[in-house]
Amino acid sequence: MPSNVIVGLQWGDEGKGKITDLLSKNSDYVIRYQGGNNSGHSIHIKKNYLILHLIPSGVIYPHIKCIIGPGVVIDPKYLLQEIKEIESIGINTSKVFLAKRAHITMPYHRLLDQYKEEALGDRSIGTTHRGIGPTYEDKIARMGIRVLDFLNLKTFYKKLKNNLEYKNQIITKIYKRKPLSFESIYEEYIEYSKTLLPRIIDAVYELHDAFKKKKKILFEGAQAMLLDINYGTYPYVTPSSPSTGGVCIGSGVPPIFLKNFIGVAKAYCTRVGYGPFPTEIKNHISEIIRQKGNEYGATTKRPRRCGWLDLLSLKYSCMVNGINHLMITKLDVLSELELIKVCIGYKNNGKKIQYFPANLKENIEAIYVDFTGWKRNISHIQEYDDLPINCKKYITFIEGYLDLEILLISIGSERNQNIIKNKSSFFKLFS
Ligand code: IMO
Ligand code: MG
Repeated sequence: MPSNVIVGLQWGDEGKGKITDLLSKNSDYVIRYQGGNNSGHSIHIKKNYLILHLIPSGVIYPHIKCIIGPGVVIDPKYLLQEIKEIESIGINTSKVFLAKRAHITMPYHRLLDQYKEEALGDRSIGTTHRGIGPTYEDKIARMGIRVLDFLNLKTFYKKLKNNLEYKNQIITKIYKRKPLSFESIYEEYIEYSKTLLPRIIDAVYELHDAFKKKKKILFEGAQAMLLDINYGTYPYVTPSSPSTGGVCIGSGVPPIFLKNFIGVAKAYCTRVGYGPFPTEIKNHISEIIRQKGNEYGATTKRPRRCGWLDLLSLKYSCMVNGINHLMITKLDVLSELELIKVCIGYKNNGKKIQYFPANLKENIEAIYVDFTGWKRNISHIQEYDDLPINCKKYITFIEGYLDLEILLISIGSERNQNIIKNKSSFFKLFS
């Protein structure tokens, strides 16, 4: 049965967790296919916020199998903490599995992420310091330690010994820090391997079997398109492929298995970390949005940079990802504003451009269209027709520019705070 893919279309934190939660109820499997615990997916449950970093958002439903897929990098220390936290609020995690081919984040990866960022100074990326970059670097350098190495401790011992010798050279000679001890890392990770053993599976065969049995599968992207290593705002990106193309690479399924490409975008933009952000707001409006939208990093607690909706980059994201269903989140956050701006193009050295540049620079200027705000609380509205007229004008403009109908509008963090704009297309996602 062709499956659903959910991806973020901006710089992350679009509310993918809430949308995945909404769609996962009717799924048999939810799969993470890239990234690691650099992501933070918030779900409102039992009057609490549950923030998931590595575990797929389907975990709260007991019938769903959740797989941390082959393309993900897994930090076992944080994974076990997350499992403990989830279980402490009464959620069973026995259906959370790890793919054999996924790579493992080691303590030296976390340290090297931090040391490199410090050494880069004002050229740093603003990473989450979770060791994601260094873990993917080892994967590509063909020296990574994989989940399956937990199944053969002799191999694990040898790989760790070789890798640590090499990493300690970098730590001591380049960064002038103390070397790490082999014994303490080995002992720590042996404990992790024992605890995680029953969760290790061959995700590729599991998923192909599931497709044969016509199971409903949902692929949950972390990070987002503009942070994609190939198509994002390089070098201010994450080292994986959050875009829909990453699903096949990161889970071992062919493109023909995929059907619905669901893109999630906020009604405005945010970015954490450094890098160009053409629609960034540099006045008090930014703080209004940050407070109303609670725009603080779910993983690092950093205040997020806030900006206007950028339709030029959003159109590019929809194009690269083949988005056929669009969902807009946090529209309610804009309700207090007198004036709302939307970017419809860029200006580079006074020259208009209508494409998303491969080398987006800090000095690029956004061209805006202004909208009068609706100045009314919309967070209780359930039907599209009941939205204020100025709000509908905003939505209609987005649809017209993107040439794509919006399927769902989220107007609050509660599970039921959604306006399903196109009900027949929405319910088809479950059939
Ligand atoms: P979710 O899944 C927002 C950003 C970091 C930094 C850059 C590289 O919650 O949308 P990394 O640690 O990945 O090497 O950092 O990417 N970043 C995110 N920004 N949401 C995320 O995930 C992010 N994951 C990484 O801030 O700019
Ligand atoms: Mg997040």
